[in-house]
Amino acid sequence: PAPGWTVTADVVIVGSGIAGLSTALGYLGRAGAGRVVLVTKDRISTGSTAYAQGGIAAAVAPGDDPVAHMVDTHLAGAGLSDPYAVHVLAAEGPEALRRLIALGAEFDRDADGGLSLTREGGHRADRVAHAGGDATGAEIQRALVEAVLAEERIEIIEHAVALDALRDPGTGAVCGVSLHVMGEGSRDGVGAALAPAVVLATGGLGQIFAATTNPPVSTGDGLALAARAGARLRDLEFIQFHPTVLWLGAQARGRQPLVSEALRGEGAYLVDAEGNRIMEGVHELADLAPRDVVARTIARTMAEQGVDHVYLETRHFGAAVWESRFPTILASCRENGIDPLAEPIPVAPAAHYASGGVEVDIDGRTGVPGLWAVGEVARTGVHGANRLASNSLLEGLVFAERIAARLAAERGPLPTGGVSAPRVTALPDPAVVARIRSLMSRHAGVLRTGEGLATLVAELDALTGSAAPVTPDTASWEAADLLTVARLVAAAAAHRTESRGSHQRADHAGPRPQWRVRPVIVR
Ligand code: SIN
Repeated sequence: PAPGWTVTADVVIVGSGIAGLSTALGYLGRAGAGRVVLVTKDRISTGSTAYAQGGIAAAVAPGDDPVAHMVDTHLAGAGLSDPYAVHVLAAEGPEALRRLIALGAEFDRDADGGLSLTREGGHRADRVAHAGGDATGAEIQRALVEAVLAEERIEIIEHAVALDALRDPGTGAVCGVSLHVMGEGSRDGVGAALAPAVVLATGGLGQIFAATTNPPVSTGDGLALAARAGARLRDLEFIQFHPTVLWLGAQARGRQPLVSEALRGEGAYLVDAEGNRIMEGVHELADLAPRDVVARTIARTMAEQGVDHVYLETRHFGAAVWESRFPTILASCRENGIDPLAEPIPVAPAAHYASGGVEVDIDGRTGVPGLWAVGEVARTGVHGANRLASNSLLEGLVFAERIAARLAAERGPLPTGGVSAPRVTALPDPAVVARIRSLMSRHAGVLRTGEGLATLVAELDALTGSAAPVTPDTASWEAADLLTVARLVAAAAAHRTESRGSHQRADHAGPRPQWRVRPVIVR
C-alpha cells in the first residue's frame, strides 16, 4: 500500500530501548541537532532493556581498568571480537556509565556511597553496576524514558512496525522508513517517516526460538529491514543462549523468566539432580565461566543424563540476601511455585542475545547510505562469537553516543521529493510462526549438527514458498520478518563448519583457524 501519511524529521530512530533512547538524547544534547521521530513497536517503555537484570559492565572500580575489561571481552568473544571496537567499548564505558547516572538512573551503592559492583560470567573483576538489586534494566529504561518524554523535539510514534527503508530516487540513499501503525488518529495504517538519517535500534530476535528471555516484540524486524535494504549482516550464527532461565516445563513457550548470572557472581552454583556440581573442572572460572561454556556444559549434561533441566543452588544465600539483592528473581520464582530459600532453582538454557547483526563501522554506519544501526541489532564487532555478560547495555550506550555525535555533525537536508514505494508483498500466515520457532529450537539451539541445520534451511525455505496475500497487520508483518531472520540465522549457522563461542557443532568440534579470517556475511 502507498503511505497514507508522512512525517518528516532530521533523524528517524526505530526502537525505544537503551540504544534508541540514548541515540535520541545524545543527538538532541548537541549543538546543531534538529528534530527526531522515534518509532516503537509497542509502548515506549516496552522492550528488552527493561528486562535486563544483572547489570551494566564498566571498569570503574579502583584497581580495575579498561584494558582488563578488554581482555575479558576478547576471551569471551572466542577470537572473533574486533580489537578497535572492543577498545572503544571498554575505554568509553566508564564515561558512558557516568552520563547515565547524571541523567538520573539510580544505581545501587555500597555503605560508603560508591557504586556497588558485582561479577558475572567471564569477568575477572567486579565491574557490573546494578540497580534495584536485580532490576537494572527497568531503572535504566525509566530514567531514559523520563528524559525523552521531557524533550519537545521528539515525536514518538508507538505501535509502529518498521517495514522498509525508503530511498531518495535521485541519490539512492535511505531517506526514511515506511511504517505500519496500529494506532489511532492521524498516524494510523501505513505511513512514512522521512529523514536523511534512519537509525535502527530495534533490538534482538529471540522470538525466532520457542523459548527465549526476550519479550514478544523481539522479532528481528530491524535485521529483516536491513537485509531487504541490502545491508551486510554478519555473525548471525552466534546466538547466545543464556545458561540459566527458569525452567517451566518442556512445553513452555515464549518469554521465559531470566535467572541472572549475577546470582553466580554472588556464589550460586549449578548442580545436577543428584546435587553434583557440573561446572567444576570444566573451566578455570567454574560457575563464572563465559556464558557459552556454561550453556553448553548444561546442554551436554542434560543430553547425557536424559533430562531437560539442571538446578541452580542458592539456598546458602538466606532470606536477607535474596530479598535485598534479587527481589525480581525471588518474585518470579515464587510466582511459578518455586521457593529458592527451600529448594534449588530448576534452570535450562534459552535464546538470549544476537551477538551478530547489521554490520556497522565504529560510528554506527551500515554500508547503505543514510542507514545506521545501534544496540543489539547492530554488529559492531565487540561481541565476536559470544558476548561478555553485561556488555550489551554498555554497547547500546557507548555506540549511541558515537552515532549521535556523527548525526549532529553531519546534519543533512530534509527529504523533499518523492520516495521509492514501500514493499507490497505476500506475507506468510502468522500460523507459520509456531513452526519456525519449533524448527529453530530443535536444529539451531545450543548444540547443532550439519544435518540438522540442512534440514532447518530446507524446511524454512518451504515455509517461505507458502507465503500468500493476507490482510497486512502487525502479526503478519512480524511473521514475515521472523521467517526472514530465521532463514538468515540458519544459513549462517549451516555455513560455519567449526565450533566457536556460542556456535557449537557436533560434526565440527573445536575452532578452526581459517574461520577467524573467513567471516560469514549474508546479504
Ligand atoms: C544476566 O543478568 O544474567 C543477563 C546479563 C546479560 O545478558 O548480560
